[in-house]
Amino acid sequence: MSVRVGIHDLAVATTGYVVELDDLAAAMGVDPAKYRTGLGQDQMSVPAPDEDIVTMAAAAAGPIIDTHGADRIRTLFLATESGVDQSKAAALFVHQLLGLPSTCRVVELKQACYSATAALQAAADMVARRPDDQVLVIASDVARYELETAAEATQGAGAVAMLVAADPAIAEIEPTAGVFTAEVDDFWRPNDSATAVVDGQLSIFAYRDGVLGAWDDYQARGGVPIDQIDRFCHHQPFTKMAAKALRWLASHTGAGLRPPLIEVSTRYNRRLGNSYTASLYFALAAVLDADDDLTGRRIGMFSYGSGSVSEFFTLLVCEGYRAHTRGAATEELLAARRPIDIAGYRALHAAATNLGSGDDVSVPQESSGPFHFTGISGRARQYRADAPRP
Ligand code: CAA
Repeated sequence: MSVRVGIHDLAVATTGYVVELDDLAAAMGVDPAKYRTGLGQDQMSVPAPDEDIVTMAAAAAGPIIDTHGADRIRTLFLATESGVDQSKAAALFVHQLLGLPSTCRVVELKQACYSATAALQAAADMVARRPDDQVLVIASDVARYELETAAEATQGAGAVAMLVAADPAIAEIEPTAGVFTAEVDDFWRPNDSATAVVDGQLSIFAYRDGVLGAWDDYQARGGVPIDQIDRFCHHQPFTKMAAKALRWLASHTGAGLRPPLIEVSTRYNRRLGNSYTASLYFALAAVLDADDDLTGRRIGMFSYGSGSVSEFFTLLVCEGYRAHTRGAATEELLAARRPIDIAGYRALHAAATNLGSGDDVSVPQESSGPFHFTGISGRARQYRADAPRP
């Protein structure tokens, strides 16, 4: 008998600061409508000095552990493309901050914005084989580009944690998936760079190849017809990209896909900016938190990671899912971010991109989240939980 496997819980986190893109437009001498309408972005989350992918990942997963406990979690996958070490998995810091059991395998995954989807699929397969086990999948990223470039307005930060389990409460991951891989230099981050290198226009073409290639493979493998998909969530480097992808899918398939099928998925990402691996799953959170009841409906998920790997798969929304979503908490997190002006944000950007590991540094607490980066000692990063777990 096949086991139903999927997302049993989902929670998010972001940073303590927020930049208004109207302010950035003024600083850049750009029409604010280019960002709001042209890119579909209103704000971007910016980390304080004591925040990074580890603190956001732990903050996202904390409420899930509080609700379900950690006894059944046998694996923790942390997906990121803004890793803090070349060898040690950032997931190990998260494991310690959350007080997870030592009987848990802990790994970091990388493939640009795509790797959370690889983690989710691997988690689903693990749970299908051992249905008593649960897997914690966390996507966490800080998107940083060079200042005063076209990409600056598409920065952002955030984390999404998902508990993958048998008999899920939120959404079942359907087994059919389509994938598309093509080596391309559209976006990458060299080992000696704290900011991404990007060929913006090429990246848009590469994303287009990915969405159509993954869709064709999904169909070739027996995926459902497009008219059986009720909502679409696409990776959102900026939210207009998701709308473009829906138009490409519509003309490729001949289906009459209307903008409302994707609009609701942009609600959080418009305010967060790009959160790379987490972006697609913030889109999912927005769809699940929206007013319309999606019980029994199918969500199409398109994951894109530059370089490039793409995947199209579907989720079936479970009966009773609305009792398990966390929309009010997400709105609170977004509203709690403190506005920062352009000079302040650019100073934070410079400090973060110049932070080496050569000298010991102590980083004072500046954010009000539950976990903090406290500095570097003996070249090793240090973290602290406000309320340490046993
Ligand atoms: N009012 C309204 N709209 C306006 C406007 C105005 N005054 N001025 C410009 N626009 C519109 C343009 O028409 C355009 O819309 P369309 O694409 O629908 O035609 C949009 O605003 C953007 O304008 P440009 O194309 O001129 O923008 P740009 O060249 O300055 O920069 C970008 C856009 C290339 C995406 C840049 O922000 C960038 O490099 N971003 C990072 C790369 C990225 O996000 N790539 C996406 C695919 S890769 C991926 O998905 C992985 C990932 O996460 C990075």
